[in-house]
Amino acid sequence: MHTGRSLLALAVAVSLVATPAQAHDHSAWGSGTLTDAELHSLVAQMTLSEEGGMVHGEGDPPNSPGATASCTASAVGCVGEAGWIPGVARLGIPPLRMTDGPAGIRLRHVETAMPAPVGLAATFDTAAARRYGATVGKAGRATNQDVWLGPMVNQVNFPTGGRNFETLGEDPYLAGQLAAQEVTGVQSEGLIAELKHYAENDFENGRTSTSVAIDDQTLHETELQAFEAGIKAGAGSVMCSYNRINNIYGCGNDTLLHSILRQQLAFTGFVQSDWGAVHKTTDLYYGTDIEQPANAAGTSSFGAALQAAVTNGTPAVAATADFPAYPAISASQWKAALDTAVFHILSTMNNAGLLEGTVFGSHSTDGTPYVPPRPDLAGLQPAESATAQAIAEDSATLLKNNGVLPLSRSSGDVLVLGPTAIAPYVDGGGSSHVTPYDPAISPYSALRSAGVHARYVPGYDLDGQVVPSSSLSAPDPAAGYPNWTLTPADAGFAGQPGLLRQQITTDPVPAGAQPVLYTGPDAAPDQLTAGEVANLPAGTAWRWSGLLTAPANPGGTAWQLKVFVQNQAGSQLFVDGLDVASRRINLGAYPAAPATSYAGLAEAARSHDPAQPALQQGTYAVTLAAGQAIHLDLRLVAGTAPAQIQLRWVPPDSQTTSIAAAVAAARSARTVVAFAYDEGTEGRDRGISDQVAGLTLPGYQDALITAVAAANPRTVVVLNTGDPVYMPWAGSVASILEMWYPGQRGGSATANVLLGKANPGGRLPVTFPAGTAFPTYDPSCTDTSPTGNCPLYPGVVGPSPFLPGATTSYRTITGMAVNGIYLGYRWYDKHDVAPLFPFGYGLSYTRFAYSDLRVRHSHDGGLDVTFRVRNTGRVVGSDVPQVYLGAPSVKPSGVQFAVQSLVGFTRVTLAPGRSQRVSLHVAPRQLSYWSTNWVRASGWRTVSLGSSSRDLVLHATVQM
Ligand code: BGC
Repeated sequence: MHTGRSLLALAVAVSLVATPAQAHDHSAWGSGTLTDAELHSLVAQMTLSEEGGMVHGEGDPPNSPGATASCTASAVGCVGEAGWIPGVARLGIPPLRMTDGPAGIRLRHVETAMPAPVGLAATFDTAAARRYGATVGKAGRATNQDVWLGPMVNQVNFPTGGRNFETLGEDPYLAGQLAAQEVTGVQSEGLIAELKHYAENDFENGRTSTSVAIDDQTLHETELQAFEAGIKAGAGSVMCSYNRINNIYGCGNDTLLHSILRQQLAFTGFVQSDWGAVHKTTDLYYGTDIEQPANAAGTSSFGAALQAAVTNGTPAVAATADFPAYPAISASQWKAALDTAVFHILSTMNNAGLLEGTVFGSHSTDGTPYVPPRPDLAGLQPAESATAQAIAEDSATLLKNNGVLPLSRSSGDVLVLGPTAIAPYVDGGGSSHVTPYDPAISPYSALRSAGVHARYVPGYDLDGQVVPSSSLSAPDPAAGYPNWTLTPADAGFAGQPGLLRQQITTDPVPAGAQPVLYTGPDAAPDQLTAGEVANLPAGTAWRWSGLLTAPANPGGTAWQLKVFVQNQAGSQLFVDGLDVASRRINLGAYPAAPATSYAGLAEAARSHDPAQPALQQGTYAVTLAAGQAIHLDLRLVAGTAPAQIQLRWVPPDSQTTSIAAAVAAARSARTVVAFAYDEGTEGRDRGISDQVAGLTLPGYQDALITAVAAANPRTVVVLNTGDPVYMPWAGSVASILEMWYPGQRGGSATANVLLGKANPGGRLPVTFPAGTAFPTYDPSCTDTSPTGNCPLYPGVVGPSPFLPGATTSYRTITGMAVNGIYLGYRWYDKHDVAPLFPFGYGLSYTRFAYSDLRVRHSHDGGLDVTFRVRNTGRVVGSDVPQVYLGAPSVKPSGVQFAVQSLVGFTRVTLAPGRSQRVSLHVAPRQLSYWSTNWVRASGWRTVSLGSSSRDLVLHATVQM
């Protein structure tokens, strides 16, 4: 018996056979002291409703009934996590709190934003992945979190995938090596890592309905490799995905969850659904242990319905258009499934050392449950920032350099262009976005602080200008426009420049109805120039009415109206009417974090004005002929802090004037550094339904760079993209530096790389296509009908696989089947398509040479590969030598083989003139292919060494 166990615990446990206590080392992962027998006993002691409470999420504690003040107010509290499981206090089982990843710890307050995972992948550095994980793990523990919803190990399959930036690239071996280290790093700090999204969720359009048609060899040899590596590293949790795999949804997929995950991969942790990815109570029976998200009402699939199933059993269910038939399941089968799910959760909590306070766990000598120590959050911040910056520097991938970089004295006056030069690009959009600690220094500020003679011209106008009062006029009650609520007294303002401002009540307004005017003290209407940034008191509501008249504009008629707000509970701009949703900018209640500049906003939705960084913008495109007037009705409800609002516009000639100003400035500067960005986000793929368009930089960035490069040949382009982009100007600029989405300290990292204080050593974890030929749905197809020869990228309603003749919301990506194992560079190799920049590619400010490649068979049936790397340049730098394995000379029929696959890499840092002998091990698995089992390929194979998938300089052949 444990010596310090409380009396209550003893009373509960007295009839159970408990294992004697071992010495308790409370040092995080693996320190759990409960035996399987004790864990099963805990399950057995739970009531049905207590067990039920373990398998579905609750809302964030601050949003739940009974939330405590410390939960909402404290920076180190239970705020903002993605979800939680309340635990069972009676048995000493604590809550389990989940925070989003995989780019840091995402809470409702600011945190350290790490570089996006694609940047981590670009380091090709397993030690960096370990540090990344440990940094996140520490921060998670310090903020009271228990589960980190990362890493995302879905593979880049479509170059336009919206969440590619959250992944570890297109190669399963690279992703697996890095994911394993991240998992180890996270869990070494006591946080449970959750590998997501199982499986094949590598697209966003139609992600909740699409089915990925995938053959067994492809499934095993691509994405599953990274899941397996993470599981082998001990990942405590796996998130099942929204999409279907071979017709069955991820969270109800018996093949994936039982046959593959549990049996083949021997996963022992818990499976948690993506948020809203459970469709049926049977998903628990087929392998999902926790349903998310919140469902306090208990009406979720794993709530009351599950309790009823465990009590009464469930009858057989016939197939529907979207789901297969289900057999009858008895009450005892349900109970066994529920017990198993709860056991998975408890045993994972135990591994993380989170169950020390249970009836079986250790207690302090006074009987109080042991609470694992949490690091001090504030104390962690400097080290977190330093790690974020170091990894951002190591991720820097130099794609082209004709000598302009690094910048030096001879670079002279430097013209800096582009919105992300001054509003730093931190992370991509969606659930991974971390709101960084302020200040997140911009690359422009960092360059200036380093003494660079830099000046800034936007070149690209994302923010527009404040609408001048002269183009606005106060409303005339006599006009009788129904969308304005005016009183006769307002007639005094009619026609005056500006908009009429009225205070309105904060009572909710039914859809389509007018807000009621506020009649309290100081209720008189007044005027506001649209540009005035007002401090409107917290909790108040306001409305501006009037006419906007378009001036003549030589650039055309396409205007953009923009509303900029800060600290709002909600705001809307109605243009000429109440009822048409498309005539409305609705900014909703966003951002959540009032004190910061970045607040999870997409690039185009934030202010790029360093003086007004906290403003959020919404945009409405409108066509206006010269002299045309439109009615405006702008409303704002201030949030919990004083609110600000601005009405702006981008005139039709903005592109011409912005580019002209940039070109003029570029002519007079010695060097130009132009920042460009794309917009990777959860929720949509880039380019929406057009894959090709998705690779183009948003807006007129290409036109800007082309014009500036023509004006100044010493133009450097810094990319903040999470994915490949087209670069029609690649041939005419001097240098291209890919900095990805570089996190909290990306500005300083970028400046250090530009100035040569850090030497770029990143390598592309994704292939950058040269033209419109890239892996996607079958480019040669001709018939897009459901039965045609075009694989269906999300967007086509197809026939039901379950009810012949029925149509369904069901859609298919057969791109996987079409491309098979040939993802990323494998596709380019197979189809002999030349990329713009190949997988594994990246330059340096120094040079490296390889020699003396030797390959021999190793005792475990794998290969040992050794070679020498030398720094032949003049500065210290890091290199990533890569080993690729060619297809075997003997190819069994029906088996796919890549022309070559990455089987080894390392990152070495060398002083000029120094060399190092490198040894890499190629495991037997990498010499095998999947065909109902792993089979070692036979015949001759080529082992190649080089600096990218397309620059292989030394070769050896081995007989298998
Ligand atoms: C995302 C997950 C995320 C979850 C919780 C989902 O929309 O797909 O990656 O962890 O939300 O925020």
